[in-house]
Amino acid sequence: MSIVEKFMTMEYGPAPEDPREALAWLDRHGRRFGHFIKGAWQAPAAGIYFDTADPSTGEKLATVAQGSTLDVDSAVRAARAALPAWQSLTPHARARYLYALARQVQKHSRWLAVLETLDNGKPIRESRDIDIPLVARHFYHHAGWAQLLEQEFPGYTACGVIGQIIPWNFPLLMLAWKIAPALAAGNTVVLKPAEFTPLTALAFAQICQEAGLPAGVVNIVTGDGATGEALVKHPDVDKIAFTGSTEVGRAIRKATAQSHKKLSLELGGKSPFIIFEDADLDSAVEGLVDGIWFNQGQVCCAGSRLLMQESIADKLIGKIQDRMNTLRIGSPLDKAIDIGAIVARVQLERIQRLVDQGIAEGATCWQPSIPVPSRGLYFPPTLLSNVHPTSVVAQQEIFGPVLAAMTFRTPREAVELANNTVYGLAACVWSESINVSLHVAAQLKAGVVWVNCTNLFDAACGFGGYRESGYGREGGREGLLEYLEPAWFKNAPPVHTTPLAKDQPPEQPADFAAPLIDRTVKLYIGGKQARPDSGYSMEVRAADGRLLGEAPLGNRKDIRNAVEAARKAEAWGRATAHNRAQVLYYVAENLSQRREEVASRLSAVVGKKQAEAEVSLGIERVFSYAAWADKYEGAVHNPPFRNVALAMKEPIGTVGVVCPADAPLLGFISLVMPAISTGNTVIAIPSEQYPLITGDLYQVFETSDLPDGVVNIVTGRGAELMKTLAEHDDVDAIWCFTDEAGAAAVKTLSVGNLKQVFTNEGRAIDWFDVKQGEGRWFLDHTVQVKNIWVPYGE
Ligand code: NAI
Repeated sequence: MSIVEKFMTMEYGPAPEDPREALAWLDRHGRRFGHFIKGAWQAPAAGIYFDTADPSTGEKLATVAQGSTLDVDSAVRAARAALPAWQSLTPHARARYLYALARQVQKHSRWLAVLETLDNGKPIRESRDIDIPLVARHFYHHAGWAQLLEQEFPGYTACGVIGQIIPWNFPLLMLAWKIAPALAAGNTVVLKPAEFTPLTALAFAQICQEAGLPAGVVNIVTGDGATGEALVKHPDVDKIAFTGSTEVGRAIRKATAQSHKKLSLELGGKSPFIIFEDADLDSAVEGLVDGIWFNQGQVCCAGSRLLMQESIADKLIGKIQDRMNTLRIGSPLDKAIDIGAIVARVQLERIQRLVDQGIAEGATCWQPSIPVPSRGLYFPPTLLSNVHPTSVVAQQEIFGPVLAAMTFRTPREAVELANNTVYGLAACVWSESINVSLHVAAQLKAGVVWVNCTNLFDAACGFGGYRESGYGREGGREGLLEYLEPAWFKNAPPVHTTPLAKDQPPEQPADFAAPLIDRTVKLYIGGKQARPDSGYSMEVRAADGRLLGEAPLGNRKDIRNAVEAARKAEAWGRATAHNRAQVLYYVAENLSQRREEVASRLSAVVGKKQAEAEVSLGIERVFSYAAWADKYEGAVHNPPFRNVALAMKEPIGTVGVVCPADAPLLGFISLVMPAISTGNTVIAIPSEQYPLITGDLYQVFETSDLPDGVVNIVTGRGAELMKTLAEHDDVDAIWCFTDEAGAAAVKTLSVGNLKQVFTNEGRAIDWFDVKQGEGRWFLDHTVQVKNIWVPYGE
């Protein structure tokens, strides 16, 4: 036999990893675990346990506790009790604990990797080389944030007790993504691992003990969805952080809407993997193997939709099939295995069901003829071609080793297809042309874009989605902000729901003696003054009951028109920051020209003193956001790979803003200006008490080169208009700064498309105080960070 023949026929021998140490650890616990509460193991109150098994063999690994409401309560109490002492530590002391956790993870890396593979079914190669090193990196990175917290986030404080719910696909990594930033920011946590994969979280409990972490800072409660629900609903939890399905994310959003719990959601995806004709096809195919067959495709950011340029489609499919024929599927503990076991039978059945549905809808199914173990939960790598973009397999997250392939002709079509989904988690672009790659990356609606690479993650680079893939980021500065709040906001008193001066006798406007000039204020939609669809108007009265004028009574049709106009003005988001700054300066200039008349009118409602303060501070605030427009920038990360990650701050899109009543003009400016300064378009609802500022504002906007549709103003009954805005699928974010009921209502009503929500939680914001009323806290809510990973250097 020649060397070549030998090489071609060479087979892999078995290369099993030794599971004995991990199994011995399970044995030392009698293969039975309680919850980890207040630094110690605690039996479940109801005495109920369930099994967790090795999906590659079906063998039971251990029995774990099913957390009840009582268990969750006990864990939350422990976290609450631990909070003051944890927060009173110096940043350096907290940093030392995080550092100790990182060191312990590294010391136990093999044990953790094997345990993860046993419980989840993922190849040991992946848990050993990817999951566990990233876990350690996350704790190291956040030890650094703990150390720098006060310097880098002055004025911010921890949220408090955090409830964290994680999925089964990257059990320990998701734990690290949740716990590391929470602790670094000074919070205490109760974490619930997924029911299929609780073991590494329990191992982590032991690591917390070894690191000497104070009791109650980290609590682990195991259980299923009901346990998660109990945590979400617990009244003494300040924030919920969730990773998992969009369906459960939506349920959590609903369940927390009536509370003040802060929320971050990392949900599903249907990420496009775009290959252009000029790509290095062999590299792209290797990328694709990682993109869709990494972790059996059970990856939220899996490149599950292959978009191929038509000219190379046949050639590419051939290459993909050749490569699929070399994939090895089998025992996850075998070090030479590419694809391991699916986590659970229900997941396996779900994958099969979706593939069957795809075939029924016309897709062609191809699977390589490679051996698949008959025992255990395995699904072969699968390629579905001729997939119609509206087919279920092109739209729904399969969460399995299944690739759905489609073709496109032009970059523009690629972008259209790529964005044709409710999700927006990640995307890959393969092209040798830097122009094409970055041009396309800029247009993709996704939180992460990998250019000529796939599935790269780093603690310094925020990860998270656009649209129904959730909101909030994990990792980096923006990830840490999810666990912090401005200190003043946390303890702010309830909001005034009327103009402040209602409590004081109003100052007379300067021209009070003369008869009022009838003011026919209109709506402002698409740059035009518009009459309301209803044909009705509402009376606006001064604090002393005098009739000041009438404002249009807008209805849902007016809101829809305003949303359409705002959508059409999207180019504002692509205008240069310099250009946006110029327009804002011009707005300030024109407001300044009219300062006296605006203040005079406003004084009828809020008194002279406040009116003058609102106008002069309002001018200053517009100036301030003009200044920010070209300074609130992204970052360039240097992850430990041959890449840079460009963290671009992109506008969220179309934002609905329900303005506060306590400062009718300054409140409007304080919300609308940051939103447009970063490139969003706005539909604003001025306060019901004094909607007449609309007339002053549109006159200013009309003379300031503000493109039509960037700011649209609809007056009317606030609650009714807000409902239409919150429910509108073309609105990307909704801000409500009225009262507690308003905050709860917007959260509830916008569950449908999981809009980003920003409210005052019914608390008072002192709009006259620069520290409260302007700056980064607002700006941070106007953007979503997109990390574009680009190969760089040798
Ligand atoms: P899931 O969303 O039901 O589970 C994730 C976590 O949420 C688990 O810890 C679970 O116990 C908990 N949970 C379930 N119901 C809850 C509730 N009502 N309140 C609070 N917590 C609750 O995901 P599942 O059922 O395991 O997988 C179903 C599908 O979800 C997958 O096929 C996949 O498409 C998607 N998924 C997406 C993930 C991602 O990373 N984006 C991760 C896991 C699943």
